[in-house]
Amino acid sequence: MRISIKEVTEGLKSIVGEEWVITERESMEGYLRDETPDAIRPKAAENLVLVKPSSTREVSEILRYANEMLVPVFPVGGRTGLVGGCVPIEDGIILSLERMNKIEVDVENLMAVAEAGATLGDLIKAADEAGLFFPLHPGDEGAQIGGLIATNAGGVRAVKYGVMRNYVKGVEIILPTGEILNLGGMLIKNNMGYDLMHLIIGSEGTLCVVTKAILKLYPRSRYSVTLILPFNKREDAIRAVPEILRSGVTPLAIEYVGLKELNAAANHLGEEWPVQSGDAQLLIILSGSSEDEVYSACERISEVAEKNNAGEALIAETHDEQERILKVRSNIYTALKRDMVDILDATVPMSRLLDLMIKIDELSKRYGAYLPVYGHAGDGNLHVHVMKENGEVPSYADDLKGEIYEATVSLGGVITGEHGVGRLRIKEFHRFLSEKERNLMREIKRVFDPNNILNPGKIFP
Ligand code: LAC
Ligand code: ZN
Repeated sequence: MRISIKEVTEGLKSIVGEEWVITERESMEGYLRDETPDAIRPKAAENLVLVKPSSTREVSEILRYANEMLVPVFPVGGRTGLVGGCVPIEDGIILSLERMNKIEVDVENLMAVAEAGATLGDLIKAADEAGLFFPLHPGDEGAQIGGLIATNAGGVRAVKYGVMRNYVKGVEIILPTGEILNLGGMLIKNNMGYDLMHLIIGSEGTLCVVTKAILKLYPRSRYSVTLILPFNKREDAIRAVPEILRSGVTPLAIEYVGLKELNAAANHLGEEWPVQSGDAQLLIILSGSSEDEVYSACERISEVAEKNNAGEALIAETHDEQERILKVRSNIYTALKRDMVDILDATVPMSRLLDLMIKIDELSKRYGAYLPVYGHAGDGNLHVHVMKENGEVPSYADDLKGEIYEATVSLGGVITGEHGVGRLRIKEFHRFLSEKERNLMREIKRVFDPNNILNPGKIFP
């Protein structure tokens, strides 16, 4: 930094006005962390200033100023990440776009134009009010559009419509120089050279700041049901997943969860989980444009389930009941968090998911560790949790994680399919990605952000 944080504060005040520059530590507490478990969350730096601009122009001026003065900038969204990706680990500026939260729905084009600070909850509501649907659901609806793009968020409802990348059609971005660019547009086809927009998606705030996005919406499905299928054996549940997809049914979501973890989450919310048989359960969300379509899909799933020894299914039809089920599923992490060291998001080809789970079982026995697993079975994306023992981080935690990562990669997978690299997975990023790939990425970072002011210390050491 060329100047003191006091001087930075004055500079920012002259851009956004006094009211939107915060320096008291108590008032920025919530901006110093994300949802990473306490045991491993990186510490925030001491000298920080939080700024809340209200327009693209203000964001541009802030970045230009920070770049000239070589001040690190940590863009934050809803701070729901799990790898310390937005934690401000060096002295500098925390940039929150929460005041930039407008959403306009373009019904004709089935798209929304959303500012980066709008929340996922806002977007789901705006789409719904226009008779449309934004399916993506990475658990916490407090996540913001900018963060969803920066992390290429995934979540529960990705089987049918994909992850965030599949929704983004255009972005307005600000480079560290303050230059404003519009990439993509309200277009389904666009082949104008290299796709910089897709490079930005998932770049974790290290290349530019996203201020606005054009997002694909879908028609609101007329009918939707959520199925809970209980299985006594996990193998049966996991084997049913590709069979369901091969049967021609494409659900919004196929989740695998253990009954123990579902009960813990229900308990945490003061709810009761409605299916108490079967230690292994599949949660399937189906939608369609007619009742017939959804029911014939249910029938096909029932046939596959029966063949794989499922018990009696619960079919939730009302909106409220389905929302309650999704809420319990989305809160497993929150329920386990207190006793957790880390949550992994290993991702393998769907057909290798069972192999990965068998390996996790073997590790669980060998280390004598309780390793709750659940995940997005339809995406081959498994959350494995390393838990505390007697309230402490066990000494084997790193070795165990290392073995899980190795098993994942040897099954043709990646160590993170959802949560990203952020601060926590830098070591593994270097371990499991080829040097050439890393060097190309580093060069890209240098082109966009030669002074390394944007989210320094993330992805790259
Ligand atoms: C989930 C988050 C933790 O799937 O990714 O619940
Ligand atoms: Zn997840």
